[in-house]
This record gives sequence, structure tokens and C-alpha cells, in this order.
Amino acid sequence: MKFSLITTDPHSSARCGVLETSHGTIPTPVFMPVGTRASVKSVEPHELRELNVHIILANTYHLYLKPGNEILQKAGGVHRFMNWDGPLLTDSGGYQVYSLSDLRKISEEGVLFKSHLDGSKQHFTPENVIETERIIGSDIMMPLDECPPSTAEKEYVRISGELTIRWAERARKHFTLTSPLYGHEQYLFGITQGGIHTDLRTSSTNALVDLDFDGYAIGGMAVGEPAEEMYRILELSHPLLPEKKPRYLMGVGTPENILNAIERGIDMFDCVIPTREGRNGRVYTRQGKMNLRSAKYSTDFSSIDEGFDNEVCRNYSRAYLRHLLNVGEILGLKLCTLQNISFFMWLTATARTEIQKGSFMEWKQDFLERFNYNDN
Ligand code: GUN
Repeated sequence: MKFSLITTDPHSSARCGVLETSHGTIPTPVFMPVGTRASVKSVEPHELRELNVHIILANTYHLYLKPGNEILQKAGGVHRFMNWDGPLLTDSGGYQVYSLSDLRKISEEGVLFKSHLDGSKQHFTPENVIETERIIGSDIMMPLDECPPSTAEKEYVRISGELTIRWAERARKHFTLTSPLYGHEQYLFGITQGGIHTDLRTSSTNALVDLDFDGYAIGGMAVGEPAEEMYRILELSHPLLPEKKPRYLMGVGTPENILNAIERGIDMFDCVIPTREGRNGRVYTRQGKMNLRSAKYSTDFSSIDEGFDNEVCRNYSRAYLRHLLNVGEILGLKLCTLQNISFFMWLTATARTEIQKGSFMEWKQDFLERFNYNDN
């Protein structure tokens, strides 16, 4: 995988780089909107491009269950199926097996589970997950892993982390034994585990680095641990990971989490916050977070963020958005989603510019001081 570092911040571990895939070039740091089932909920691919979205994330667990591999292969992969010609990353589905399905049974071979859709029995192995990701055709694939809850005992995290390493080795091997189906290159990242335990995270990271993946994801974070613990794990991971490969913090996070992680060397992020909160009428602005369902906006004809350069802030008032949400017009949910994606793209793009200017740390502090409005 071609990843070039453009600038490293002399005042922190922040970096900006460029990640090249067959479907396009991704400037980092980057935020990846979530399109679990081959759709970023309510947003069309051309709108994603207009919002400067560089890469989206889909989920192997959901796509494998529906529409299923046969239809995905007949469609020629997910890029063609959904008409998104930009880069696509797939999570392995390991995480969803643990959070959504019943009757999980983890063994050395893989994980047996019942579909949350129809109760059918399914089996994921490191090998068959790679095969499904070949059929999906994602540019960046994640291997099957286990993400233990933050409440797990250390002994459980140790045993689980060791299994994740053996699964990573099998996934890596199967990756080299199989080929892309649609003529474009696919890459495989490793996922480190080990929770917040220094020794376990260190051994997981070292073992994955030895397996020589195209990039590294830090998994098992933002599962209920304090943010400070997550930052400590990022600081611990920083010198262990190869400098010249991309680093992805899975499932994170709030604007504050993202900037603090960029400061600690993370290049890629994904989170459901912008899309999920948008559908609840919560919007992100440079001043903070607003709940547009609130009656206090019913006669507020100002922009949600005056001067923020996007269609929603330029064209619609708080009162209009509040009205749409109040009467249940689907346009309300869509406009809130567009605002939030636009905001998260702006956040990582601005971080990138500030890293290049050498002023990331000052900008971050200034941004976080102003980003304090929250009416929930
Ligand atoms: N998404 C958020 N955290 C994780 C993780 O630990 N593993 C996987 N596969 N996906 C995630």
C-alpha cells in the first residue's frame, strides 16, 4: 500500500499523509462516514463527494447477511452495487457478531453465531471473512478479531487477544492465497487488541507488526473506558507502530476524541456519531452541539453556524430545520446528517491544514475552547 507522510508536527505526534488506493487518494487525517449496509443513511454517493468525503466504511457482518455474497458478487462488488467509485473500507464484522447476535460461540476455528435478522446459524472464520471481503471488493479489509468489553477481566483480555493474533495470522495467510475479484487492489490492516493493559496491548501490537500488514487499526477502544485511558494506549502504541504505515482508531469518536487522537499519531477514524445523531436532530457546529428538536429554535431564523461553508448553513434557518424535525419530514433528518458529515470532514481537513502550517496544537486548543455549546 502506498502511504506517504507529508508532514509530521514538531510539537506533537500529529502527522498528515496521503493514502493511495485504486479508487482514489485519501488525504490524512481523515474521517470515514459509516455506510454499514452499503448506504450512508439518507445520503447519495454524489452528495458524499460534494461533502468532500474521501472514503466510507461498510460492514462485512451486515452485507454477508443481507443481501448476501451471491448477490454482491453478481452485482460486481459493493462499489458498483451502490454506485460509489471512491475508496471503501470494510470492518470484519467481528465487532457486530459480539454486539448484535445471540448465541455466540467462540472457538479456535472462528465464531458461531445466530443472525440477528432471522436467527439462522452462521459461522465466521478468519478465512471466510477475507473471502466475503474479496466479494465485497473493499479497498481496505479488516480481519476477524474479538473486541472484549471494557468490563472484561484481564485474563479474558489476554486469552482473547492471543486468539485475535492467531486469527490475524490466518487472515494474513489467506489474503496472500486469494486475489481481488474485480481488478482493483485490496489491502489488509491488522487490528491490535489488549484493552487498556499496557503489557497486553504491547504484545498484541508487536505481534501484529511482525505479521507485516498494510496498516494498523487500534481496536477495543471507546468501549466504556475513560478517554484518558484511551489516550494513554495511543501514546503507548505510537512508537511500536511503523511510522510509514497508516493508523486507524476504530469507532472513534467525538470531535474532542478525534483531535486528541490526531495529536497522538492517528490517521483514520470512523464513527456513527454524525449520522446517528443527525437522525436524532442533533447537529454539530463550530460552537458545539445543538438539539434542533428544541422549541427554543422555533422562531430563530439564523443559520445553525453563520459563515460555515456548506449548503445547510448557507440555505436553511434553525427554525426551518426545527420545523422539519417537529413535523417528521424526512428532509429534516437528511439535512442534519449532511451538516454533521460536513462538520466532521471539515474538522479532519482543518486539522490537516493546521498540521501543515505547524499550528495544530494552538488551533486545537482554540477550537476546543469555542466548541462548548451543548443543549442536548
Ligand atoms: N469497531 C470499533 N472497535 C472495533 C474493534 O475492536 N474491532 C472491530 N473489528 N471493529 C471495531
